[in-house]
Amino acid sequence: MAATLFLKPCIFLHRRTLFALPLQFSSFSTSSSATAAPFPENKVHRSRQSPAVSASLLELGGGVNISRDEIVKDDPTNNVSDTIFSKLGMQLHRRDQHPLGILKNAIFDYFDTNYPNKFEKFDNLCPLVSVKANFDDVLVPADHVSRSYNDTYYVDSETVLRCHTSAHQAELLRQGNTHFLVTGDVYRRDSIDSTHYPVFHQMEGVRVFTPADWEGSGTDGTLYAAEDLKKCLEGLASHLFGGVEMRWIDTYFPFTNPSFELEIYFQEKWLEVLGCGVMEQEILKRSGRTDNVAWAFGLGLERLAMVLFDIPDIRLFWTSDKRFTSQFAKGQLGVKFKPFSKYPPCYKDMSLWISDSFTENNLCEVVRGIAGDLVEEVKLIDNFTNKKGMTSHCYRIAYRSMERSLTDEEINDLQWKVREQVETKLKVVLR
Ligand code: DAH
Repeated sequence: MAATLFLKPCIFLHRRTLFALPLQFSSFSTSSSATAAPFPENKVHRSRQSPAVSASLLELGGGVNISRDEIVKDDPTNNVSDTIFSKLGMQLHRRDQHPLGILKNAIFDYFDTNYPNKFEKFDNLCPLVSVKANFDDVLVPADHVSRSYNDTYYVDSETVLRCHTSAHQAELLRQGNTHFLVTGDVYRRDSIDSTHYPVFHQMEGVRVFTPADWEGSGTDGTLYAAEDLKKCLEGLASHLFGGVEMRWIDTYFPFTNPSFELEIYFQEKWLEVLGCGVMEQEILKRSGRTDNVAWAFGLGLERLAMVLFDIPDIRLFWTSDKRFTSQFAKGQLGVKFKPFSKYPPCYKDMSLWISDSFTENNLCEVVRGIAGDLVEEVKLIDNFTNKKGMTSHCYRIAYRSMERSLTDEEINDLQWKVREQVETKLKVVLR
């Protein structure tokens, strides 16, 4: 059972085309702007020779190639949009001159210096994973909100775009890895503002201990691992942020016990840096490591890069505007970004009678589908229920480009399309 669930996605992912591809397919960039693209948009491959294989294939990572129609489907078990599809395969974390790549490399440096040749690094694992890997294998309860279609992108009922890099923990343990770092793009349906984007990047770390490691230390395996974890991550925070004040907060994750969050005092605020803990014994047991103990952590790269590089809006990570990209260089962590523009925002309000199935994430998905990165924020500004029990929401949509001024005409056009699709797709009544 476990094997079939796990293997299933590989079959429809054209994994076998990996070997044939370089000869048969040529890559093309969909970029239309002459100034854009110090790096290309996602690498879609199109057949030149055989019309029978005319569907474009996208390189997802891990040697997996897939066509749009296998990811974006008109099917009730699928909620992946074209906006999301366009981000697949971009792998910003693998670009050495991109703030996310620079940060990833700085974290690698820390581990390489302190644990030479110990940690295996994975940054090209396919983001399309089974529901089992994403949730069951890391003990996410069956009724956990993160499993809902409102929060996670489902390709079908058994396959998702990973919502965290923890999705790879169990498989890598089963394969025998004991020290590893996994970096990758992760996908979550969410609201829209300057710090939330439906695709972002995480790094996961895992270290396994055997009884020989803690015997003689005078403590048990769990305490030993927790102490080692804290020491390791405090060192990492100092490596990235310099001499800052830190504090540990007890918290809960389904996959660790005890679980902690690390916060640092930076720019006059407490900032959550990462989540971590001692891995639940059940995860180790299922991967055949009954006597072992492990620690694990997960951190969001954008969150840290935004404060380290002074990047004010999460959309900037995706721009190919040279005024952004040219400010960063390989190996230079923490160079402060100098904003090149402040184009004016334009606000549009939209009031609607919502239905029971309405969610803000669904609304944001519609708005992003039309306005793309021109939408800066979607904010609920009014909410009431009338005597008949009907609930009204008013949302303020902020449109603002980071690259140019928008014309009234273009914004009105976008807003009309949003209104139209909100009514038809979300089954709400506009007021
Ligand atoms: N997967 C968690 C998230 O996405 C982050 C995390 C927390 C990862 C604790 C871990 C961990 O490995 O031990 O929010």
